Amino acid sequence: MFKSIRVGTARSPITVLAVFAGSTGLPRGVELSATLKDALGAARKTPGFNGDAGETLVAGDAGVLLGLGDRESFTADTLRAAAGSLRAQLDRMDANAARLIIAEVIPAKTLDDETAGRAVGEGMGLSNWRVDFFDGTASNTPPARGRLTLTASKPAFKRGLGAGLDLADSVNEARRIAATPPNICNPAWMAKEARRLAKNAGLTCRVITYAEAQRQGMGGIVNVGRGSSSKPCLIVLEHKPARPRRGVRLALVGKTMTYDSGGYSLKISGGMKGMKYDGNGGCAVLGAMLAIAKRKVPIHVTALLPAAENMVAGDAYRPDDIITMYNGVSVEVTNTDAEGRLILGDALAYACKKIKPTAIIDVATLTGGVVVALGSWSAGMFCNDDKLRGRIEAAANVTGERVWRLPLWDDHREFMRSKHADIWNSGPKRDGHPIQGAAFLSFFVDEDVPWAHLDIAGVSKVDADTPTFVPGPTGFGVRLLTEVAESLT
Ligand code: BES
Ligand code: MN
Ligand code: ZN
Repeated sequence: MFKSIRVGTARSPITVLAVFAGSTGLPRGVELSATLKDALGAARKTPGFNGDAGETLVAGDAGVLLGLGDRESFTADTLRAAAGSLRAQLDRMDANAARLIIAEVIPAKTLDDETAGRAVGEGMGLSNWRVDFFDGTASNTPPARGRLTLTASKPAFKRGLGAGLDLADSVNEARRIAATPPNICNPAWMAKEARRLAKNAGLTCRVITYAEAQRQGMGGIVNVGRGSSSKPCLIVLEHKPARPRRGVRLALVGKTMTYDSGGYSLKISGGMKGMKYDGNGGCAVLGAMLAIAKRKVPIHVTALLPAAENMVAGDAYRPDDIITMYNGVSVEVTNTDAEGRLILGDALAYACKKIKPTAIIDVATLTGGVVVALGSWSAGMFCNDDKLRGRIEAAANVTGERVWRLPLWDDHREFMRSKHADIWNSGPKRDGHPIQGAAFLSFFVDEDVPWAHLDIAGVSKVDADTPTFVPGPTGFGVRLLTEVAESLT
């Protein structure tokens, strides 16, 4: 890992030449010393090097070949992943600077220079992260390398590169918080951290405390979080640019369960491990706000992070409780492990009432069912508005954070009605339970507000190394939400 990666100028960088599979020859119009030309040309002919996506090969003393795979299947996603592999290669070489000849070999109609630069910046930045902040005296993590400086000749590519690295920084900030264990990251810590980050980023931050939430009738947040010694709260962040686009108010809501033991509907032990990641939706929203502020996106954006810890205690909520939510809807608690929807319900209703948003998107590790349905290949998306859905799908295409639509019909909503209160938080059967979650949430969103619910339970972390991610949180949603915000300008 490098201490940091930046775009700049450097005296004797390693030259990185990107090559498509099967291609031969050097790109035209690129200045290369005779030595480099020979080294790169010879390396290209090395038996076994094919130019497959992400394949790297050292060429001479100061060159590296980077495979881009087949031209036909090449996308920004290919390049993002390849850039992750390139970073690892430069890491192994203990490089301090690299000159990237990448845009020069990609046809403009395949990927424009800025998009290519951004993909490379994201891939390098995302892969330049690890969980080492809890290393102790027995750590065997190699020390971080120095700074890596990237150079390139095309201005648009360089611009994209810088933007991609910046975005990755915001994603990595979200990942750091997500990776912070629940003995440190509890609702109070989350509020403190949000305050600190907001201040540095120029966002406003207000925290609705437990006492205030009680006064305001936020029955979901109050009941779910009550059993923890770190009391729940609702964190509100605002990005208010000087001249925001009129008539656009985006609300982002992120499930911030700092730990989900299941409560009295206790999880089995195998199902509990890893529930420190149940705040990853909130982390993604926080990261997106940092990126939105840094990029000075000219729209008004409000983020709501209901933060709570779902625990067992003498005063914890229990199955059979009937609670009243912020918007007056009564809920029969059938399962204390269906807690995310309860804290989100309050936050969604609060957003609709106070912000009157023109679009609202919530991001949550809501159900194990979505992992069964879509695995870690895609988030589940529910959306009541075709335009907003199109926007999110277009953004996902840009960032490579996949979403797949699931249905939400009136039948699903009717299924959530309870005999003893307005609705229950979970049906007696687990049939379609990601949809049950979404159907529950729909009772807390005003009908005329375009709304999307993203269930990220399967995509918010990875268990094995990928070119861009190490095992741990992925920050899924940070770039996606930022891109959606940008599309509203
Ligand atoms: N936080 C979990 C969902 C989850 C499960 C996220 C696995 C990541 C991996 C959520 O609060 C939960 O417990 N959901 C229940 C819902 C059920 C009680 C209707 C589930 O998925 O089993
Ligand atoms: Mn749960
Ligand atoms: Zn949960």
